[in-house]
Order: sequence, then C-alpha cells, then structure tokens
Amino acid sequence: MSELLDAVSRRRTFAIIAHPDAGKTTLTEKLLLFGGAIQMAGAVKARGEQRRARSDWMKVERERGISVTASVMTFDYDGRTFNLLDTPGHEDFSEDTYRTLTAVDSAVMVIDGAKGIETQTRKLFEVCRLRDVPITTFVNKMDREARDPFDLVSEIEDQLQIHVTPASWPIGMGRDFLGCYDLIRDQLILMDRTQGDVASEGIACHGLDDPKLDELLPDHAVAKLREDVEMARGLMPEFDLEEFRAGRLTPIYFGSAINNFGVQELLLGLAENAPPPRPQPAEPRIVEPEEGKVTGFVFKVQANMDPNHRDRIAFVRLVSGRFRRGAKLKHIRSGKTLAVNNAVLFLARDRELAEEAWPGDIIGIPNHGSLRIGDTLTEGEEIRFTGVPSFAPELLQRVRLDDPMRVKHLRKALEHFAEEGASQVFKPLSGADWVVGVVGQLQFEVLAARIEAEYGISARFEGAGVDAARWIETDDDVQLKKFLDLNRSALAEDHDGALVFLARNAWHLNRTQEDFPALRFLKTREQN
Ligand code: G4P
Repeated sequence: MSELLDAVSRRRTFAIIAHPDAGKTTLTEKLLLFGGAIQMAGAVKARGEQRRARSDWMKVERERGISVTASVMTFDYDGRTFNLLDTPGHEDFSEDTYRTLTAVDSAVMVIDGAKGIETQTRKLFEVCRLRDVPITTFVNKMDREARDPFDLVSEIEDQLQIHVTPASWPIGMGRDFLGCYDLIRDQLILMDRTQGDVASEGIACHGLDDPKLDELLPDHAVAKLREDVEMARGLMPEFDLEEFRAGRLTPIYFGSAINNFGVQELLLGLAENAPPPRPQPAEPRIVEPEEGKVTGFVFKVQANMDPNHRDRIAFVRLVSGRFRRGAKLKHIRSGKTLAVNNAVLFLARDRELAEEAWPGDIIGIPNHGSLRIGDTLTEGEEIRFTGVPSFAPELLQRVRLDDPMRVKHLRKALEHFAEEGASQVFKPLSGADWVVGVVGQLQFEVLAARIEAEYGISARFEGAGVDAARWIETDDDVQLKKFLDLNRSALAEDHDGALVFLARNAWHLNRTQEDFPALRFLKTREQN
C-alpha cells in the first residue's frame, strides 16, 4: 500500500456532539488518556484555562465558565490516528460548531442517560444528517439513575429517525450498575468498585449462555441481561457497516465517562468502523482523499490570542494529498499562491510545526486575514469546496460608538470579526449604520469586549428594528430590479458583497416573499 493510502485508511477525524453537561469534556479527556496524549484527567480543562488566560477578550467566557473556541486534538490508538475536533458546547456559539462539523467524517453523540435527547443534541444531529455524517451513540452517566435503555433507544429512533443497533448493553444502573456486556467482542466488562469504580479488563465469554456470566454476576442480573439482550436483538437491526457509514444506523454504547467506563469499547468501535477521510464535494468535481495533490478548505478562523498582533489562524481540513512543510498552495478565491512554511499541527499537548500532514488532518495556517472561512487551497487546480455554510443570524443589532470619530476603526473591527465568522456584518445600501448579526445573545457581549480589548473602541449594541436577514438569489433579473427599487431601505450587503434583505418582522418578510415569488430568500449561504 502506498504511504498515502495507508495514512488515509488510518485516519479517523471526528467530533463529539452533545447538549451542555452531558459529559463531552469528560469523555474527551478519557479518550485522550487512552491515546496517551495526556497523562492525567483534568488536563483538558487545565489546558483550557491556560489558553484562556492569554487573551483579554476571553474574559467573558471565563466569567461565564464556558468554552467558546473549538480546537483540534490529535492522538494515536489501536494503530489509528484520531483527530478530535472540539466543538463549543454553549448553544450561543452553534454556528462555529456547525462549521466544525463540515470538517469531520463522523461524530460521537453523547447523551445523558437520565435526560435522553435534549435540544442541542437534536440540532447538532440534524447538522450531521445534512451531510450523512455517521453517528456513534454513547449513553453516559450510567453510574447514576438513568432511564430504561429500551426507552432511550426508542426515543432516539423516534426523534432522530435513525436505526439503532446495540453495541453494548448495560447491566443495572445507578448504584446497581455492574458493567456492560460488549455485544461486538462478546465480553463482559465489569465496573471494579474496589478500585475506585474503574473498568475491568474485558472478560471474554462464549456468548450470553457462557456459565462464566453466572459465576461473575448475581442471578437476577444475569437473567435480566439475557432477557434484555434477546429482546434488544429481536427489536433492533444488526450492525451493518454500510448503513452506519451512510448515516442511517447508529451503534449505541452505554457507559460512564467519569469512571472511564465504556470508553475503550467506544474507541475500538471508532477505530474499526468509523470512516476514514471521505471524498469531499467540490465544484466542478468531487475530490478523493487518495489523490496525489494536496487540497483543503478553511472551516474556521480564530484570531490569535495575543491582542497585540492581529494575526489569525485558519484551520484547514486537508482533503487529499500529502502536505509537506513549504508546500506552495493556491488560494483559489484570490488566485495568489502561498508558501506554507509555518503551518501548525494540534497535538493534544501542544502545537507543533507541521512537517507533513495527510488527508483528514487539520493544519493551522497563521495569516493576517487573507484566509477566510470556506476558502479552498489546492496545488493549482481551480476547484472550490462546497458546503461550508453561513447561517442567517437570529439576532440583529446596530452598534453605537461612544466616540463617533472612531467609526472607521469600528468598521475595520466588524469586518475582521465577520471574516473570522464570529459575527456577520451587514452594510445597508442606504444609511450609515451597520447591522451586526449573531446566533446567540452572548456573542454581542463577547464582541463588545473584543472591540474594546483589541481595537480600543468603546461600543454598545442596541436594537436595529430588524428581525431577520435573508440572502437573496434569483435568475429573474426583471423581478430583481423591481425588488431593488422598491426595497432599498431594507437592503444590505454582507462582508462578501452578497445581497441581503433585512426584514423588520415576520410579516414584512412573508409579505415581501409573496410579492416577489421569483426571488429566493435564503437562511443559509455557502461561503466562497
Ligand atoms: P459537557 O462538556 O458536556 O458540558 O460536560 P462535562 O464533561 O463538563 O460534564 C458535566 C458534569 O457531568 C460534570 O460535573 C461531570 O463531572 C459530570 N459527569 C460527566 N460524566 C459523568 C458520568 O459518567 N457520571 C457522572 N455521575 N457524572 C458525570 P460537574 O459537577 O458539573 O463538574 P465537575 O465539578 O465534576 O467538573
């Protein structure tokens, strides 16, 4: 096998999706422990604290105790290289999360065993479904009182419309949680209460009738396990790799992340079945990971933590080819060629200069604002990756300056944030007040804090009398002209110059849509 094929087949690039508090951070930490990427639990949070301490604008998130920025963690396990893309859990920052999900090949959905599917779980699942991203389910907190496993399974099937297949089955729950039966490897994994509730080594069994089970488990527990598994196997489909990879079937694991229970089985499942880097849709053709030439796209831009330097890091998901330090990559939007000498890789412990990287890997390219979300990089070919979305903001406000003389600086700041994807900015076709759009209220606070810290400008956000923003597209030039003439006061451009309609309220939006049926009023727009 060529080096490229080998590297591709070993890569597993994934994200964890969860409602806040379900246990995503805890699970991340345990996965990194297995990968030997961190030495002790608690390191993910500790590292987060350090990282945050470096920047002023992140005070807001520190005060609120939430993690806003997504990062990338790479670790090896079972002969595979895993790239775990962290997604911010707070619902106000979901746009960033959505874009991160365009850069993964599969996802782990963590569910709190007592709570089942929650709002954020559902939203994130839907984003995965848009791209048929395969999902592995991990029901967490089985060491607490949880809901009946059958109940949870039917909730997943009903609410998410996906088939569920049992990969492990819990034995008891809460104080009576004894462990799980691994249905894939036919082994019993017991929770060792004498060792501080850790997982035992798997005990190999010859199926559920193995008398070993009767020796190791109390009678009622064995009887219930046999009965449950028989029922589960009767009710649920068998594991089918193709169905899983098409996003139509999710294997379900039960465990307790905090006790490191069930985590190894989950990781082995990912190593074995989660897809390696997938072909990526692009215009005018799909790009296969095994292609020799390097291609990639920017899915996230992060302002550097040092407020004295305005440089940013563009997170690039490599789609094909073997990247080597110094590679000359064409930036398709501008047509310029960049020599990429200083890209970084994100190992869980640290950042490291990228000497080489492979499809599925994420490299960070420092730049001064030339690389934007959605941009494509290639070794020369004119292709453009599609599918990195911009979402219509749900909250729109005007920004007011305390010192009107700083208006130019403010605009620069707003444009930077829009390029970074932290917010959207709309410049009205008539009128001077720019409108800023975000997905969640907290983003306004973060923005105001950053404008102050990074640009030394004091600004406030206030109502703009705008309720919704929609990108306008049409093939009907006559109707477009009429629309432009009649609605000038409600029109704006986004930072890429795309036309946007700013509706005062739902009635205004509906009415205008009815009046101009040949126009498309879009809630999402692909970045280009
Ligand atoms: P998140 O990133 O999804 O928001 O969740 P996180 O891992 O921070 O976990 C949320 C809370 O749930 C934490 O408790 C964590 O310790 C707890 N937790 C995670 N996994 C398990 C589990 O398997 N069993 C039990 N019983 N609890 C679990 P906390 O009190 O909010 O924070 P902390 O003080 O423990 O850090």
